[in-house]
Amino acid sequence: MTPSTRTLLKVCLRLYLIGVALALPSNKHEHERNYKPQDVIIRDVCIIGGGSTGTYSAIRLRDMGKSVAVVEIKDRLGGHTETYIDPVSHVPIDYGVEFFHNLSLVTDWFTRLGVSWTKAIIPPINTQNVDFRTGIIDASYVPASQAALGQALGVWTSLLLKYPTLNYGFILPDPVPDELLTPFRDTVKKYSLDALVYLIFEFRQESILDQPTLYVMKNFGLDLINNIINGFLTTADHDNSEIYQKALGILGTDALLSSKVENIDRPSSPSANYTISIAVSTPSGRKLIVAKKLLITIPPLPHILDFLDLTDAERDVFSQFNFVGYWTSIVRHDGIPDDIQINNIGADTPYNLPVLPGIISITQTGVPGLHGVKFGSPYAMSDDDVKNSIIDTFKRLKTGGADVNATAPDFVVFSSHTPFDLKVGADAIKAGFYEKMYALQGVRGTWWTGAAWNVHDSSLLWAFTEGVLPSLLA
Ligand SMILES: Cc1cc2nc3c(=O)[nH]c(=O)nc-3n(C[C@H](O)[C@H](O)[C@H](O)COP(=O)(O)OP(=O)(O)OC[C@H]3O[C@@H](n4cnc5c(N)ncnc54)[C@H](O)[C@@H]3O)c2cc1C
Ligand SMILES: *[C@@H]1O[C@H](CO)[C@@H](O)[C@H](O)[C@H]1NC(C)=O
Ligand SMILES: *[C@@H]1O[C@H](CO)[C@@H](O)[C@H](O)[C@H]1NC(C)=O
Ligand SMILES: *[C@@H]1O[C@H](CO)[C@@H](O)[C@H](O)[C@H]1NC(C)=O
Repeated sequence: MTPSTRTLLKVCLRLYLIGVALALPSNKHEHERNYKPQDVIIRDVCIIGGGSTGTYSAIRLRDMGKSVAVVEIKDRLGGHTETYIDPVSHVPIDYGVEFFHNLSLVTDWFTRLGVSWTKAIIPPINTQNVDFRTGIIDASYVPASQAALGQALGVWTSLLLKYPTLNYGFILPDPVPDELLTPFRDTVKKYSLDALVYLIFEFRQESILDQPTLYVMKNFGLDLINNIINGFLTTADHDNSEIYQKALGILGTDALLSSKVENIDRPSSPSANYTISIAVSTPSGRKLIVAKKLLITIPPLPHILDFLDLTDAERDVFSQFNFVGYWTSIVRHDGIPDDIQINNIGADTPYNLPVLPGIISITQTGVPGLHGVKFGSPYAMSDDDVKNSIIDTFKRLKTGGADVNATAPDFVVFSSHTPFDLKVGADAIKAGFYEKMYALQGVRGTWWTGAAWNVHDSSLLWAFTEGVLPSLLA
């Protein structure tokens, strides 16, 4: 290569690099110039996800004087709260979130929204216990007696009372005590909690025996037990979507529905200025939200957070999560009596827990011919595979011959709640997983709430979220 060729190459390289530099937005202001002024939304806090915690945060922050924008991918707020209104009878059926805790925080929230509430009366249920693998009623199955349940609940409660901070999140002693890490099946044996196992499953709707006991304590905690004994709340009209419709009325255009986050640009060091840019595609075109702070409420899995430049610490934490599959539906089936609930039980399994993947239960809805069907799986499945499994199970049902006409059901509504219940293994918990996770709060102007940060329970999540909000007011 001659010296002149070398010089030419150097010049070309320099020109090329200048071209690259010019093509890239050099800073956020450059970025902002790509949008018309009416497409730039300036807010104190941008909230990603308009489900239970995102909606709560938005209105609470606005009431405390902050401007907000909520980005929700669906065409409605509410997340796991879903209501089907039967077009004939106009009866609403909550086939997602049903119950709330009787806490002043919950009734304050409903009052703010103008939603009336009532005690959730659970009607006496005529239950059949069927092993859905065979479709046969298990006549030998005897549910736990009230006395045995009461005894086990007492022992369990005394264990919970040793760890009162679990009410407020994953706030664990250091080092994490072994009795929180041990698989729940060993805790059941140690404390003779046999009578309680199926009841806990009915609330959790997933396999619980292999989970670290910590997760069962989080999910079947003191406040939940208090409400099982003294009564939950529900909306007076038995239409929990009313919560989110009223919230949408208050938020107006601050809620960006059917909107997808394309990219988020976060400053590497926090600043009081409007420095976080969130590029969003909305039904009325691309918008740029420019915010001081970001609150993320969606499941923190790396593939779901693909619009975010995850820090190494964030990626290290979020990539450790496992999750389960969970689906809900309402089906039309005239062969099943309207006044029965069919529980899936294992005829020959420990504590008669059902074998999953499978239907968890077929429930009454109050509308003739319509039945609720919940389906659980330890792993992700396609919606079609779940539907086919539900159809095959109905065809197998032989509960008492005359009770059920074993034909395929028609799906009236069907909804995936997967990925559900993000958890990590005992080793990760022991190695300080939740401490590392909670240390992510505030990094790069980003705060977090949602089920993975506490528990899949709207009331307890609103309480947890209250603890996050003060940082967003600063
Ligand atoms: C079938 C079912 C029944 C339940 N029953 C009860 C009950 O009776 N009582 C109770 O207290 N709890 C119940 N739960 C628990 C419930 O999940 C939690 O209470 C609560 O919904 C979790 O709130 P969240 O804000 O973390 O998530 P969600 O409420 O799921 O909200 C997350 C929101 O983010 C949106 N989203 C996802 N990805 C994106 C994205 N990329 N961009 C923008 N938005 C996005 C979602 O559409 C959703 O609206 C139930 C859950 C299920 C699945
Ligand atoms: C909620 O609990 C309070 C006691 O803390 C009780 O007075 C009230 O009746 C309960 N509300 C409902 C609707 O059950
Ligand atoms: C905010 O921006 C102003 C003007 O650009 C600057 O003077 C100030 O130092 C910034 N404040 C912070 C905390 O970054
Ligand atoms: C069972 O369902 C089929 C199809 O819907 C119907 O024709 C039949 O009459 C039903 N039988 C009984 C016993 O209900």
